Amino acid sequence: MRTLIILGSTGSIGTQALDVVRRNPDRFRVVGLSAGTNHELLVGQIREFLPPHVAIADEEAASDLRERLAGIRGVEVHVGPNAAETLARDAEADMVLNALVGAAGLGPTLATLQAGKTLLLANKESLVIGGELVLDLIKGEPERLIPVDSEHAALAQSLRGERREDIKRVILTGSGGPFRGWTGTELAKASVKEALAHPVWQMGPKITIDSATLMNKGLEVIEAHYLFRLDYSQIHVVIHPQGLIHALVEFRDGSMQAQFSLPDMRLPIQHALAWPERLPTGVGSVPLVDSTLTFEPVDREAFQAIDLAYRVGELGLTFPAVMSAANEVAVMGFLEGKIPLTRIVEIAQAVVDEHQAPSSVVSVVNLERADAWARKRAAEIIEAPR
Ligand SMILES: NC(=O)c1ccc[n+]([C@@H]2O[C@H](COP(=O)([O-])OP(=O)(O)OC[C@H]3O[C@@H](n4cnc5c(N)ncnc54)[C@H](OP(=O)(O)O)[C@@H]3O)[C@@H](O)[C@H]2O)c1
Repeated sequence: MRTLIILGSTGSIGTQALDVVRRNPDRFRVVGLSAGTNHELLVGQIREFLPPHVAIADEEAASDLRERLAGIRGVEVHVGPNAAETLARDAEADMVLNALVGAAGLGPTLATLQAGKTLLLANKESLVIGGELVLDLIKGEPERLIPVDSEHAALAQSLRGERREDIKRVILTGSGGPFRGWTGTELAKASVKEALAHPVWQMGPKITIDSATLMNKGLEVIEAHYLFRLDYSQIHVVIHPQGLIHALVEFRDGSMQAQFSLPDMRLPIQHALAWPERLPTGVGSVPLVDSTLTFEPVDREAFQAIDLAYRVGELGLTFPAVMSAANEVAVMGFLEGKIPLTRIVEIAQAVVDEHQAPSSVVSVVNLERADAWARKRAAEIIEAPR
């Protein structure tokens, strides 16, 4: 029996993780759940899984939550913006699944590892922002960081039992999102509704927009760099519209290994929860004879997020944090109808161009400063008359 804390239990990954737990009650016990604002869904989850610890970020939602929990005994409620981090650090558990969205995931990622727990990481932004700090915390114990992102889970599976020196390169696949084949001019007119209609995956709004701009793939390149300690020149991206092959590894003898499955996040989630075992998921088999597999290059002219991600990844220091923060603000700006889709990456690019990295040492303090500065600059650019 493994004990588990789920941060972001009310989100897309969080609810699917609870689905996996529900199917395997003899394998996992939920000892902590956290949400941002959705107290109604959280109450239902608490009633079902009876965790001793709960965290909720929003103070108003917390008072509603407390009222509704009146009849349930033995649940400690942590409240406020740092509640998820407190839960990750202080509650007793074997594993923490970080399924928060955005930079809010950094504190809990570091707290989980500092507390000696195993981190199942869906929140890619925390690795993009604080990759160096994360690597320091898992030195000599790489098995304490297990990827949940489908491409990285695919790489972990394709690399099982292989020798590092045999890896030539890895290839992350992407479906291309809803705007595959669109030109820059067409992209500038894309509506919020169109951008939220991902052809393959059902996900939270931020990652869905990141998938429409391909910023998500850019973040994944940086994520792969830290997770598998690869040079950026060894990390490639290819468009695979069917979303059946999640990533490939090419070895120095020219062989390739790929992970192939239906696009369903319960698979990589169960993979992380049960690692190194596998569990039944209820996910069907790929209909082989009816499947077509095609691959095409990324249109880097129309989707400039990929080149930007390689650039900030190579620069390191606080540059990836700045790109990620500016992107978060610009994604919100797009969702609120303030800017067109194509401005998201332009704004992230402009903020990165203006950034002066503070020093050669990355610390939580200078990451937080860079994050705050990038958010402010991105917001100013969004509001500035054009
Ligand atoms: N969804 C996918 O299929 C998928 C696939 C691969 C990787 N990922 C990665 O997994 C992460 C989560 O994605 P998602 O799609 O599950 O997002 P989501 O559906 O938007 O869920 C985000 C979760 O985080 C909580 N949250 C948001 N802001 C918070 C804050 N400031 N403090 C505390 N809690 C907060 C939300 O709570 P409330 O809803 O209660 O406010 C919710 O539980 C992202 O980093 C994403 O890139 C997702």
